[in-house]
Amino acid sequence: MENVLITGVSGFIGSNLLDYLMENTNWQITGYDNLSTGNKENIAHHLNTKRFEFINQDAFEIVSLKKYSKVFHLAALPRIQPSFELISEHIKANVLLAAHLIEIMIRENHYPRLVYSGSSAIYGTPEKIPTPETEKIDCLSPYAFQKYEVEKYLELIATRYPLDYVTLRYFNPYGPRSFNDKNPFNAYSSVVGIFLNKAKKGEKMLVTGDGMQQRDFIHVQDLASANYFAAIHPNKINTAFNIGQGSTMSVLDLAKTIGTPYEFIAKREGEAEITFADNSKAKKVLGWNPNGNLSEYLKGELKK
Ligand SMILES: NC(=O)c1ccc[n+]([C@@H]2O[C@H](COP(=O)([O-])OP(=O)(O)OC[C@H]3O[C@@H](n4cnc5c(N)ncnc54)[C@H](O)[C@@H]3O)[C@@H](O)[C@H]2O)c1
Repeated sequence: MENVLITGVSGFIGSNLLDYLMENTNWQITGYDNLSTGNKENIAHHLNTKRFEFINQDAFEIVSLKKYSKVFHLAALPRIQPSFELISEHIKANVLLAAHLIEIMIRENHYPRLVYSGSSAIYGTPEKIPTPETEKIDCLSPYAFQKYEVEKYLELIATRYPLDYVTLRYFNPYGPRSFNDKNPFNAYSSVVGIFLNKAKKGEKMLVTGDGMQQRDFIHVQDLASANYFAAIHPNKINTAFNIGQGSTMSVLDLAKTIGTPYEFIAKREGEAEITFADNSKAKKVLGWNPNGNLSEYLKGELKK
């Protein structure tokens, strides 16, 4: 049986990836999380099961990767706005932690398939719509730059050591557990989760700027399946893929679709005008296809 590792397992995407792998594989899964922004409740349903071991530690404590054939690296501080102020903390979580894992691989001369969670934030406001992976990189925030830095390290280090990696550039995820009340950065979570949370509490949704910014919303289970397909690809591919739905909705239309009161607040710097994935490379090379339907998801959530 294969042993695999998930860092950041109790976060939004990590816990959904755990659900997916528990359901669709027979892998033995170890998950690390220091619970800095994650929530143990997200993985409570898998604790005490034979196939999953939760290690409530900082992933910097990992000293060996020898037993793993696949490493899903999701642990990070993934919020654009806080990355402008808490700079060293973000560099540590978003860059040094990945470097730590790569160094272990080199030291042990063991190269598990590394599936790295990247971000569409690295495109800034792209010129080409929909945006292919070949678009110019234009980081508008420290967070985006840090996500790109790791991509670049992977590319450079792979020229000297036999790294085996896949970068997944996620667009704008939504889905279960996207909003964590206990996360100190929750004001900057995925907008679908924030709006639904406000709507359910009877509070006004806050639309930044004029709300015309377009987002490519992708269901978190589609990110999970992309991780799976990246992990099982038979060849070493060492490349990056856009993982988005391949369609967009404006933030204002999202608020209108949810249908509860909203108000406008100031635009935030460092955020893109549009995200819109050209996802054809992931479809072709990984055999991945997104299945999520945002309108259906919103309907279901609003009924709860
Ligand atoms: N949510 C998004 O909008 C989005 C978009 C693009 C890319 N991503 C990337 O996806 C990944 C997961 O994001 P998420 O939305 O699930 O975030 P999240 O904050 O919900 O999850 C991150 C998890 O990592 C854990 N963590 C942080 N530092 C750690 C450390 N040193 N050791 C162990 N655990 C640590 C946190 O406690 C948390 O559970 C990140 O790499 C992020 O950059 C997220």
